Amino acid sequence: MKKNRFKLILDIIMMVMLFSMYNKKTVSMEYHEIGGLFLIGLFLIHNIVNWAWIKNISLRLTDKKLPTRSKICWIINFLLLVSFILIAISGIMISKTVLINITGDIVLWKSIHYFASALAIILIGIHIGLHWNYLKGFVTKKVKLPAKIGKILGAALIAFLLVTGVYNTINSDFSHWIATPFEDNIKEGKGLRRGLNAGLEEETLDPGKFSDIVLTYGSITLLFAILTKEIEKRT
Ligand code: HEM
Ligand code: HEM
Repeated sequence: MKKNRFKLILDIIMMVMLFSMYNKKTVSMEYHEIGGLFLIGLFLIHNIVNWAWIKNISLRLTDKKLPTRSKICWIINFLLLVSFILIAISGIMISKTVLINITGDIVLWKSIHYFASALAIILIGIHIGLHWNYLKGFVTKKVKLPAKIGKILGAALIAFLLVTGVYNTINSDFSHWIATPFEDNIKEGKGLRRGLNAGLEEETLDPGKFSDIVLTYGSITLLFAILTKEIEKRT
């Protein structure tokens, strides 16, 4: 398989799996925990595939000739790495099914898990936005449409994503998770008990529910991606 094709397939799997993590009952608690650890493994592969870039830019970070775009990409990628390390550690600390012997301050770890997950949505959005043309290139190569129709469909898709993205940013749990450090009920610990084996009732894969969650959190991520690519275009 060509390297670019492998990268794209990996990108798509990572995206769908990531968005499906934003509800503990998307499939089951086991899926969330084992799938989450597997996904973090995929992120590691993604970083290995991009190792030459990471090494090159890290070594040139203080070089004045390094373009600002590369510096921004590096900072976002670094913050992504920190966020997912925090998500993994906090996830293990609050685990309800696979790693229940590890314990700690549940209130604190749960707050970290929720906040880092919400922050990761924004960071992945910016990361995708910075590679918008790269990803668009793949789509336009595969989906061949007359230029005018392609433009109209593209504009309609962006408008749809903007509207659903704004709606879901306000109405989904994302807004609560991002506000976690500032919310009083979190500081007081309400609703933040470990509740071992809680949330295990629904164990079947419901394609409707799965796609609903993926589309909800996907639209929020893509809202940040569109804002990023528009800002980049204008600066
Ligand atoms: C990419 C990885 C992950 C992301 C983005 C993520 C995100 C989230 C989010 C947003 C929630 C709240 C969901 C809801 O209220 O329905 C949650 C809950 C939870 N996560 Fe994760 N998670 C990830 C990986 C993990 C891993 C690897 C573990 C454990 C090994 C884990 C353990 C948990 C547990 C136990 C809960 C339920 C907390 C509770 O309600 O008591 N997560 N996660
Ligand atoms: C849903 C998840 C993600 C998607 C869709 C995604 C997509 C992409 C794309 C399209 C590229 C450029 C082309 C390529 O070389 O593959 C890229 C590069 C890169 N990604 Fe990701 N990525 C994701 C998550 C992450 C995460 C979590 C990290 C870090 C922990 C990361 C680190 C990097 C690095 C270091 C590069 C190379 C430098 C750059 O061009 O920014 N990515 N990613």
